[in-house]
Amino acid sequence: MLLKSLFLLAGAQFVFAKCKCTPADDCWPSASKWNSLNSTVEGKLVQNQPLAKACYHGPGYSAKKCQRIASNWTNEFWIPESPIGYSYPLVDTCPPINASVAAYPSCELGTSPAYTIKATNADDVAAGIKFAKENNVRLVIKNTGHDISQRSQGYGSLSIWIKHVKDGLHFHKKFHYSEGSCPSNWTGSAITIGGGYVWKDAYDLASKHRHVVVGGGDPTVGCIGGFLQGAGHGSLSHEFGLATDQVLEYKVILASGETVTANACQNTDLFTALRGGGGGTYGVVLSATVKTYPTRPTLYHDLTIAALGHNTSAVLEATARMASKYPAIVDEGFAGTAALTRKYGPWVYGSPFIKFLANDSIEAINHAKDVMNREIINDLLPGNGTDYLVSSKWSTHPSWAAWYASTHHTSAGNSQPLMASRFFKKESLSGKEQELFDLLQILTTEVGAGVHTATSTVLLNIVAGGKVLNNVPYTSVNPAWREAYLVLQGIDMWPANAGSEEIQKVKEELTKRKLGAMKNLAPGTGTYVNEADPYDPDWKQDWFGDRYDQLLSIKKKYDPEDVFWCWRCVGNEGWEEVTGGALFGPLCQVN
Ligand SMILES: Cc1cc2nc3c(=O)[nH]c(=O)nc-3n(C[C@H](O)[C@H](O)[C@H](O)COP(=O)(O)OP(=O)(O)OC[C@H]3O[C@@H](n4cnc5c(N)ncnc54)[C@H](O)[C@@H]3O)c2cc1C
Ligand SMILES: *[C@@H]1O[C@H](CO)[C@@H](O)[C@H](O)[C@H]1NC(C)=O
Ligand SMILES: *[C@@H]1O[C@H](CO)[C@@H](O)[C@H](O)[C@H]1NC(C)=O
Ligand SMILES: *[C@@H]1O[C@H](CO)[C@@H](O)[C@H](O)[C@H]1NC(C)=O
Ligand SMILES: *[C@@H]1O[C@H](CO)[C@@H](O)[C@H](O)[C@H]1NC(C)=O
Ligand SMILES: *[C@@H]1O[C@H](CO)[C@@H](O)[C@H](O)[C@H]1NC(C)=O
Ligand SMILES: *[C@@H]1O[C@H](CO)[C@@H](O)[C@H](O)[C@H]1NC(C)=O
Ligand SMILES: *[C@@H]1O[C@H](CO)[C@@H](O)[C@H](O)[C@H]1NC(C)=O
Repeated sequence: MLLKSLFLLAGAQFVFAKCKCTPADDCWPSASKWNSLNSTVEGKLVQNQPLAKACYHGPGYSAKKCQRIASNWTNEFWIPESPIGYSYPLVDTCPPINASVAAYPSCELGTSPAYTIKATNADDVAAGIKFAKENNVRLVIKNTGHDISQRSQGYGSLSIWIKHVKDGLHFHKKFHYSEGSCPSNWTGSAITIGGGYVWKDAYDLASKHRHVVVGGGDPTVGCIGGFLQGAGHGSLSHEFGLATDQVLEYKVILASGETVTANACQNTDLFTALRGGGGGTYGVVLSATVKTYPTRPTLYHDLTIAALGHNTSAVLEATARMASKYPAIVDEGFAGTAALTRKYGPWVYGSPFIKFLANDSIEAINHAKDVMNREIINDLLPGNGTDYLVSSKWSTHPSWAAWYASTHHTSAGNSQPLMASRFFKKESLSGKEQELFDLLQILTTEVGAGVHTATSTVLLNIVAGGKVLNNVPYTSVNPAWREAYLVLQGIDMWPANAGSEEIQKVKEELTKRKLGAMKNLAPGTGTYVNEADPYDPDWKQDWFGDRYDQLLSIKKKYDPEDVFWCWRCVGNEGWEEVTGGALFGPLCQVN
């Protein structure tokens, strides 16, 4: 007790070599300093309040407002509208729940930033960087807040929110570098994404010009932030390579406040780091120019397998048999994300896969259908009507955009999610029906009992193979991407009213048992930095492979003072969030 009050009195600085100032410290900037920052950024500074404050007794309490917040809480469109809206909160210190019933006596900002600059231009971004440096305040960068490892959050931080930087989306019929001296090898078209746009925006512009761009499956994912900088996959990555492989040029504000261009001729090391080395680490990206391709007819195969008589095992067995055949359909060009869920009771497998066709000739279509029928469907028919019900539907669309518009892509309804994932090479799939079945049984085991049971979902992403297998110069993605055929994801959602011990149990089960089982079946690979278990003890190796040291030296060159720091990002050694057993705490230098 005495130690605790001493600690608070002295401020964290006293105990550690150096800590970032937090609102609990004397060194926290005064109101007049914040006001002066606010005038520099022309009134765009926001002092954050917990999103669900209205649910808690005290000033601002409103049952009606709370009800509204609660019903929008898991809405993917609502979350990115707030400066502190986060899809994967990990630590939730103010959920919109009935405080009188649940284990949350009070509501705090927690790991959400204290202040946010709603930036609209490069000057706002530079002002935020300068303020954070001069006042020893932790800095974070946020776009949509979709990050899975808390990398756009930070207790007691100033956040630069780039969502409202909107310098337009520009289509270039023939690409040229912005500064003439770089000879381009790319003779095709491109789009410059000038700020915090989402993939839906880029798809719409590309489509207007009868082109496509490699983006996310979900339309709400931001383009230029964590997605592009960390790799980026979707239904077209198989055909054209990872999204980050498509970047021709970035405009970046560095820790020094200087704006630079990074491409294959200038700042090539920074260009390399921003193509796979992760968001929030090397600078603030203001715009990205990415390749686009002429659109083509798109074949859609919508397969669902639903358990009959609650025979879960039959659906898992069928899924395992299909997954073992994935290499054949991936090599044929099928792509997309299959899901194993039990949202409606019994387990259901669904695979909305597409093939981006060379042309819409009957031969091209029949060839693709034959491969799918031979490898996947025929094998399912004996159990159809007894163990499960199989629906297999085909449709052809004149363009990729026409297909995209015809189906649903948002994963609404997720709440309190945690994720773990792994790359699977061909060898870990082909002929491994039994092993895959055993793994799926583990991944679909739900932790807990009764009302407080965590729900699970398994996603089987066939978004690799094809062009993803080609290593591309000036990229720094985990080399394991270049051998991957499947990105397998396990998602567990802890129940809304779970206490901290129950939540901890769900986290541990995911990391130890579920991720452990994935690693056993796919040894020596790794996973995708943007869709990984933040509690994976081997995160450096698993997320970055042997690229980590090279990325660290680039980080040190461009950000020698660690202005950009995020948990689970390159260069985070030397700093630690000192929580003393609490859920959050100051960021301190540890050596
Ligand atoms: C609903 C949902 C669907 C998804 N679908 C896909 C998918 O189909 N394919 C896929 O590959 N991934 C997908 N993801 C994962 C996604 O790639 C990551 O969540 C990614 O980090 C999101 O980037 P963001 O910038 O939008 O998010 P944020 O949380 O805002 O930021 C993520 C990271 O990037 C940094 N950052 C943000 N903007 C900038 C900037 N301008 N400059 C420098 N750093 C910046 C942040 O500091 C943070 O470190 C999905 C995630 C969710 C929640
Ligand atoms: C910044 O200024 C704007 C406009 O004057 C004001 O609405 C806002 O509340 C100010 N922000 C802070 C944190 O004081
Ligand atoms: C939130 O949900 C309610 C329905 O409960 C809806 O009326 C409202 O428009 C939603 N959006 C916001 C921003 O509150
Ligand atoms: C919270 O619980 C109390 C007591 O059970 C109930 O009266 C109230 O309506 C609940 N509020 C909400 C927002 O659900
Ligand atoms: C163009 O290709 C050449 C040869 O492969 C390579 O050396 C050069 O770096 C490339 N230039 C750009 C701008 O990508
Ligand atoms: C469930 O399906 C499996 C595999 O198809 C089958 O062997 C088993 O008999 C079925 N179980 C029940 C209870 O129908
Ligand atoms: C259509 O694409 C196939 C490859 O899938 C190719 O063999 C065929 O020649 C193409 N036909 C036309 C008319 O371009
Ligand atoms: C499976 O059986 C159902 C019901 O008998 C039938 O409607 C459906 O077409 C069958 N699925 C396939 C792929 O043949």
